[in-house]
Amino acid sequence: RYEKWWLTFGIGSLVLFLVIVGISAFHQGHQPPSSVKTINYEQVDKVAPFNEPGLKKVEGKDWDYELVVVASAFMYMPTEVEIPVGSTVKIIATTKDVVHGYGVAGTNINMMLEPGYVSEYVTTMDKTGEYLVVCNEYCGTGHHTMKMMYKVV
Ligand code: CUA
Repeated sequence: RYEKWWLTFGIGSLVLFLVIVGISAFHQGHQPPSSVKTINYEQVDKVAPFNEPGLKKVEGKDWDYELVVVASAFMYMPTEVEIPVGSTVKIIATTKDVVHGYGVAGTNINMMLEPGYVSEYVTTMDKTGEYLVVCNEYCGTGHHTMKMMYKVV
């Protein structure tokens, strides 16, 4: 009698384990950890928060500012931001056309912006200076002209 009970318990645990592994694999496969699917990437600059790109102070979060960026061939909106030194910033970025890069020179920030996805990265800017943002994914004839500037003051 006891053997049968243990066998049932064992098989039950195994099935439960496989279901949990299956569910988590499914979720990870469909949603990369740092990306959130958007509705229509060509219209993404018409919906919040991408209709108002720029740096915004936020309250009650683990970061001080949110920096909303929209990339398109061949520019970033906004083109320049002033960030108070020592502040923690969540970069929230997307593209409204093709794949663009988002690399901040002098930091380890190196994001890829994909149409239909929002890429996020939290960073603390603890040194003053000017940081040039460049595109590091080839995106067309104007690729090398894509630039943005962080002024950390
Ligand atoms: Cu955008 Cu290269």
